[in-house]
Amino acid sequence: MHFISEDLEEYCLKHTSKESDLLEQIDRETSAKVLNPRMLSGHLQGRFLAMISRMINPTGILEIGTYTGYSALCLAEGLAEGGKITTIEKNAELENMIRRNINQSDYADKIEIHIGNALTIIPELKEQYQLVFIDADKENYSIYFEMVWEKLSSGGFVLADNVLWSGKVIEPTVAGDMDTERIKMFNEMVVSKADAECVLLPVRDGLMLIRKR
Ligand SMILES: C[S@@+](CC[C@H](N)C(=O)[O-])C[C@H]1O[C@@H](n2cnc3c(N)ncnc32)[C@H](O)[C@@H]1O
Repeated sequence: MHFISEDLEEYCLKHTSKESDLLEQIDRETSAKVLNPRMLSGHLQGRFLAMISRMINPTGILEIGTYTGYSALCLAEGLAEGGKITTIEKNAELENMIRRNINQSDYADKIEIHIGNALTIIPELKEQYQLVFIDADKENYSIYFEMVWEKLSSGGFVLADNVLWSGKVIEPTVAGDMDTERIKMFNEMVVSKADAECVLLPVRDGLMLIRKR
């Protein structure tokens, strides 16, 4: 679903800094070889993630949902000296591609890849993070958010992708559509959380940006 006209989207892209050759190649290869390539953040959102990361300049980033590594590489652009990204991907079939993509970048030694279920991996993580990107299965967004909150430094940020869910968040609930139901619950939970402030940005499929007070 396009929230703005395709012409305007094209205009936005033309007036957004170019992505690197490696990111372009990852996008192309993902489209050609991997299921559901629309899941990849892509040029516009990728430049937004890189910009946010540069603004925060975090020493610790946690990403839930690596897919083929595109967004991890965008977020890595803003890491502080000595900083690290931990990224979690459940689909073991993607591991070789993720490692190959990340190893071709300048950030290979700054990205720690965990293959497995984020629900079991997150509780084992000991670090504090200044930026968390939630971009995995929608039904667990609220659980991920609660799990990472204690690991987020105060003044730190959480970004959650797909919070407009192709516009379904404003439609009446359809019985059995758990993903939409859980995204709605997540958005409600975030906006009413006392120790958080948030802004829902209509970028691509909706990005929720949350700051821990
Ligand atoms: C939307 S894609 C991530 C896209 C990626 N962040 C990007 O922008 O290029 C979601 C990914 O989350 C993974 N995923 C789904 N459930 C998960 C879970 N419980 N733990 C870890 N990863 C999960 C999926 O296999 C998929 O690769």
